[in-house]
Amino acid sequence: MLPWLHIAMVWIHLLAMGTALGVTLALVMSGENGGASGKLLNSAVGFLLLTGALLTYVRFQGALRAGVPVFDTSSLLIAVKLLLLIALGAFFGIAAKKGRAGEQNSARGLYLASLAVIALASLLGLLV
Ligand code: HEM
Repeated sequence: MLPWLHIAMVWIHLLAMGTALGVTLALVMSGENGGASGKLLNSAVGFLLLTGALLTYVRFQGALRAGVPVFDTSSLLIAVKLLLLIALGAFFGIAAKKGRAGEQNSARGLYLASLAVIALASLLGLLV
C-alpha cells in the first residue's frame, strides 16, 4: 500500500468522524433533521464504513506480509467499532423518523445517545 494512500484514507476516516460528530451535536441542539443535515449524516456514516473497511484490509495485508497473526486485540476493537457504526445508523434512522413525526424530544435523546456512541468509537479508534 502506498503510504500517501493510507494517510489519505485515515484523513477521510477522521473527516467523516468529525462531520458525524458536528452534525449530530447540531441536531441535539435543534432536534430537527432537515434534508441537508440528514444527507450529510448518511454520507459521513457511509464514508466511515468505506474507509474503515479499506483500512482494515490494509491492516490484514500488512500483517500477512509481515508474517504476524492477522487477528489480534485490534481486530476485536475494529469489530466493536463496526457494531457501534451499525447502532449509529439505526439511531439516526429512528431519530429522523421521530423528528418527522414532530417528536423533537425523542429525536434529541437519540441524537444524544448517538453522540455518546461516536465518542466511544473515536476512543476505540485511537486504541486500534
Ligand atoms: C463510529 C464510527 C467510527 C469512528 C468515530 C472511528 C474513529 C477512528 C479514529 C479516531 C481512528 C484513529 C485514527 C488514527 O489514530 O490515525 C480510527 C482508526 C481506524 N478505524 Fe475507525 N472509526 C469508526 C468506524 C470504523 C469502522 C466501522 C471500521 C472498520 C470496518 C474502522 C476501522 C478503523 C481502522 C482499521 C483504523 C486504523 C487505521 C490505521 O491507522 O491504520 N473504523 N477510527
